[in-house]
Amino acid sequence: MPKHFLHLSDYTSDELWDLLKLAKELKTKFKNKETYKPFDGKSLAMIFAKPSARTRVSFETGFEWMGGHALFLGPNDIGIGKREAIKDISRVFSRYNDMIMARLFDHKHIVELAKYSNIPVINGLTDYNHPCQILADILTVWEHRGSLDNLKITYVGDGNNIVHSWLQLATRFPLHFVCCSPDGYEPDAKTVNMLENSGISSFELSQEPRSAVKDTDVIYTDVWASMGQKEEAEAREKAFAGFQVNEELTKQTGKETLFMHCLPAERGREVTDEVMEANYSIVFDQAENRMHAQNAIMVYLQSLIN
Ligand code: CP
Ligand code: NVA
Repeated sequence: MPKHFLHLSDYTSDELWDLLKLAKELKTKFKNKETYKPFDGKSLAMIFAKPSARTRVSFETGFEWMGGHALFLGPNDIGIGKREAIKDISRVFSRYNDMIMARLFDHKHIVELAKYSNIPVINGLTDYNHPCQILADILTVWEHRGSLDNLKITYVGDGNNIVHSWLQLATRFPLHFVCCSPDGYEPDAKTVNMLENSGISSFELSQEPRSAVKDTDVIYTDVWASMGQKEEAEAREKAFAGFQVNEELTKQTGKETLFMHCLPAERGREVTDEVMEANYSIVFDQAENRMHAQNAIMVYLQSLIN
């Protein structure tokens, strides 16, 4: 069976470091406009059950730069799990393509897609996690700080798919991770337990943004209502009042702190315009690094097959 990329915790810390180093190398090649075509004659099937800007454009651009052909399959194209069983899609695509990237709702569906696939499957976000994003994010922090030692990350907002991937990364890389969420919006308890049992990182839950961000290296936030939850937006807006990342909050850290957001951002809700545009905001560096982190994942997965 091929190796897939479904959760950061499926990888060892050495493998994750190798991916980060490879991403840096590929980024240099891309910026220097070098010719690099390890995917010549190969194809990537990209299945999207949800909307996307960054994931679609970065995978498609990256794969085509590396010499391959990427196929976009939108929500109305294959009706994964509705028109056809997921395991049938896995086996059909395994006959045509070299790799699959999928953005799905239910996490169980991507696990099933991978289980029956003879080609590597990459998780491009589920309701549960978003590993490509957090690999790109930690690469971005590494570039900005020059080291990942003694890192405190404070996430202010919904305990969602972004947080779960941070927690899974923290089972491999030592971090101090604080999740500051309103009551009832905490991350999945099993994933928190996974982190705590790993003994690698420390974790704190908080409901007090001002004290949570003290001494933090990074403040991270994300939308209060994720894709698939937009009908809850009004109720969530009330629950998250007081959890906005604004300049008043960023001043509480007592040190130089980076601001991060996976994007898309709802400016004026979870984050203000001022913070998005501040010189300590690295949101577009994160977006840029999506492509290089993903290129590294694809090259690595392909190298295990060759
Ligand atoms: N951050 C991210 O995954 O963006 P898209 O939803 O636009 O792909
Ligand atoms: N939590 C957000 C992340 C988008 C990249 C969502 O799932 O909609």
